[in-house]
Amino acid sequence: ARTYDFVIAANRLPVDRTVGPDGEETWTTSPGGLVTAMESVMRDREAAWVGWAGFPGDAPEPFDDGPLRLCPVPLSAEDVEHYYEGFSNGTLWPLYHDVIVPPTFHRSWWNVYREVNRRFADAIAEVAAEGATVWVHDYQLQLVPALLRDQRPDLRIGWFNHIPFPPVELFAQLPWRATILRGLLGADFLGFQRPDDARNLIRSCRAVLGATHKGDVVTWAGADDGRPGASPRAVRAASIPISIDAAGFRELADQPSVKARAKEIRESLGNPDVVLLGVDRLDYTKGIRHRLRAIEELLEDGAISPPEVVFVQVATPSRERVEAYRTLKEQIEGTVGRINGDFSHLGDTAVHYLHQSYPREEMAALFQVADVMLVTPLRDGMNLVAKEYVTARHDGGGALVLSEFTGAAEEMRAAYLCNPHDITGLKETILRAIRDTHEEKRRRMRSLRRQVRTYDVQAWADSFLRALEVAPGRPARSR
Ligand code: G6P
Repeated sequence: ARTYDFVIAANRLPVDRTVGPDGEETWTTSPGGLVTAMESVMRDREAAWVGWAGFPGDAPEPFDDGPLRLCPVPLSAEDVEHYYEGFSNGTLWPLYHDVIVPPTFHRSWWNVYREVNRRFADAIAEVAAEGATVWVHDYQLQLVPALLRDQRPDLRIGWFNHIPFPPVELFAQLPWRATILRGLLGADFLGFQRPDDARNLIRSCRAVLGATHKGDVVTWAGADDGRPGASPRAVRAASIPISIDAAGFRELADQPSVKARAKEIRESLGNPDVVLLGVDRLDYTKGIRHRLRAIEELLEDGAISPPEVVFVQVATPSRERVEAYRTLKEQIEGTVGRINGDFSHLGDTAVHYLHQSYPREEMAALFQVADVMLVTPLRDGMNLVAKEYVTARHDGGGALVLSEFTGAAEEMRAAYLCNPHDITGLKETILRAIRDTHEEKRRRMRSLRRQVRTYDVQAWADSFLRALEVAPGRPARSR
């Protein structure tokens, strides 16, 4: 079988297979920021991408998608339940996002997580050429670096975390904390969104494994117990924040059809003076409830009201079989119903709630309609919606309200920054973003656009791969 010098591994392939009621198969772009970012970097690179095709059962045979070789990893219904919904999204996701909801620890989930990580490592080993570069992505695959290193010491392995890495005080709760860290230390380079995430990882390695560190290089003597990932390592951990394909997205936003669609959307909303917009996966990390609370109070205060001011919330369906996501959906839908019951009039809706996922063209049009964009997560690794929004607004209009607790806030200092837990402060920031002078808003947007344009997804991938190339790999003494 053919092997590749460059291999990507992520939980999802860039495309998901869905089967319609008539039995017809369709492939659609997978959800989330990871795929959006990697897809544009990989567009004209010859490489293999190892990942799950998004449905339980037997995997399709490997196939080509342009220059990309897609290698589906099969997950049984039980794997999906324990590895994906369970350990990845019921244990790690809440633990790594400040325990906004309590993480659940189940040994059966952990066992399947380990097994599936092994399956990924085997699939990578099969397609990776001698001396290949392997780029592993995200929290679902933290054991892959060491499992892969054990069978293929010739490979150069990098791992990038798209979500936050928690402070050691939280990470230490994890019963399998040492195995996770050993898994990661099988890599040559570990990339994170923020400097704090990299520091948290380094502190955890010290506290949990007794590793030492000098600057951003962690040195671990190894456990010498024959278990995977037990050999001595020196691994660099640093922040390399992700970005978007700024030129590509700007071009999309510039299309006459997108502009026409933006006009149509504004009209269908009744040509309001101000459109407020939120766009998120329906996830408790995104702060949608806090945002709705602020909107409801602003309506109560009479500071905003339809038809002059309307709020549009797109909540993309996500992880719908996980309990915490179901509960959240019910809460949000109850709140939206109550707000509209109290503040809408016939023909004038206060909150437009859309529980759907839209193509990129529609999103670009919506961004152009949004006078104020509300990106207010309680915790978010980066948040690429913030970057897409400012890029879509090269007409100079718009305003971005951005939570301090996103990775994006580290770079996008010219946004209207807010603490989403502080409802009074959030309301004030929203009003300020509505009422500030035209000049002030344009000045901020110009600075934000420049920032995203200069540091785009290509710059991110280049920095990551350069860092991986020069990473130490082994402790200095044994080189
Ligand atoms: C975030 C994660 C990704 C994940 C995406 C969508 O962006 O960092 O790894 O793919 O959410 O979530 P899902 O569970 O549908 O893959």
